Amino acid sequence: MLDLFSEDSPWQEPLAEGAVILRLRARDIAERLYQEILCIADQNPFVHRITPGGHRMSVAMTNCGDLGWSTDSRGYQYSERDTQNGRAWPAMPTLFRHLAQETAREAGFTDFNPDACLINRYEPGAKLTLHQDKDEKDMRQPIVSVSLGLPAVFQFGGFERGDATQRVLLEQGDVVVWGGPSRLRYHGILPLKPGVHPLTGAFRYNLTFRRAH
Ligand code: SIN
Ligand code: FE2
Repeated sequence: MLDLFSEDSPWQEPLAEGAVILRLRARDIAERLYQEILCIADQNPFVHRITPGGHRMSVAMTNCGDLGWSTDSRGYQYSERDTQNGRAWPAMPTLFRHLAQETAREAGFTDFNPDACLINRYEPGAKLTLHQDKDEKDMRQPIVSVSLGLPAVFQFGGFERGDATQRVLLEQGDVVVWGGPSRLRYHGILPLKPGVHPLTGAFRYNLTFRRAH
């Protein structure tokens, strides 16, 4: 008999208008995505950047694509080169680009063409406090986020920092897309619980695809 409710196939979970979780959507390519991350990190290692306020971020970051997001004493910016070592970011793998475009389309955003992919690496205790993604030029383009490795609690809020948030657990292969009326919602990641993941060991990785310029 056909099992319509099998948890083995990906399913969609709406979060808000213009925001949806595509559960397990990238599960079957998780290993290939992870290998690409390692290859990118070989070329441009993960670093804990310092915010304009002088704080060391608990999340370690690198990027791939034409542009990369980083922060230093001058502020937050997208740039063609890593501001710390002057090197151009590694190219965005085709596998990444296709996943971002296909999942954006499934969420209702047809013309997504990312030029930046921020790669976050979370160790136990690492977190991302509530923030808006607002350094991109065209707010009609969505954000596509792909989770790998250890699970983490994603907070998805409103348009003010103090608004109530939904809390959802994101696991390996989950893809979240937010755009349209949800593009500027506050979001964040609660401190990562320690664990050992069969693919990524002690870490969680997250890819966020953006159209920056
Ligand atoms: C981000 O907001 O840039 C990343 C969110 C996540 O790690 O899931
Ligand atoms: Fe973000």
